[in-house]
Amino acid sequence: MMNRNEFLSANGVSAGTVIFAPFLASCSKNSSGLGSGGAIDFTLDLTLAANSVLNSNGGSLNTNGVIVVHTAGAYLAVSASCTHQGTTVLFDGMNNRFHCPNHGAIFSTSGSVLQGPATTSLTKYNTLLTGSSLRVYS
Ligand code: FES
Repeated sequence: MMNRNEFLSANGVSAGTVIFAPFLASCSKNSSGLGSGGAIDFTLDLTLAANSVLNSNGGSLNTNGVIVVHTAGAYLAVSASCTHQGTTVLFDGMNNRFHCPNHGAIFSTSGSVLQGPATTSLTKYNTLLTGSSLRVYS
């Protein structure tokens, strides 16, 4: 008898694909897509539970390699990977800035370095809210 992993493998599906499928359904990629030439372009449906944290001021979401934040009544987005050694940065809502938990780098909401050891800014992306759809794009 074939076990679950053997069945998935035989059908060309990895367990990881199955686990992340519900998450991927919470956002859609625009026609320009992700990863083509390094471009970022995706849309989040803010009516979905997976994205609902962004309906609250101070809420942040890490998706598609981007940290999306709702702060001061607006949305902003920066690359999630610290420019020092690649650790995922966190949004510090109390101080309205990004913090790297690895070596302590601090970045402004525009992505610029406020404190090292990082020396390069996070990439800032554009955001556009249309109804309940939030587009994040480069
Ligand atoms: S990896 Fe972020 S400060 Fe070192």
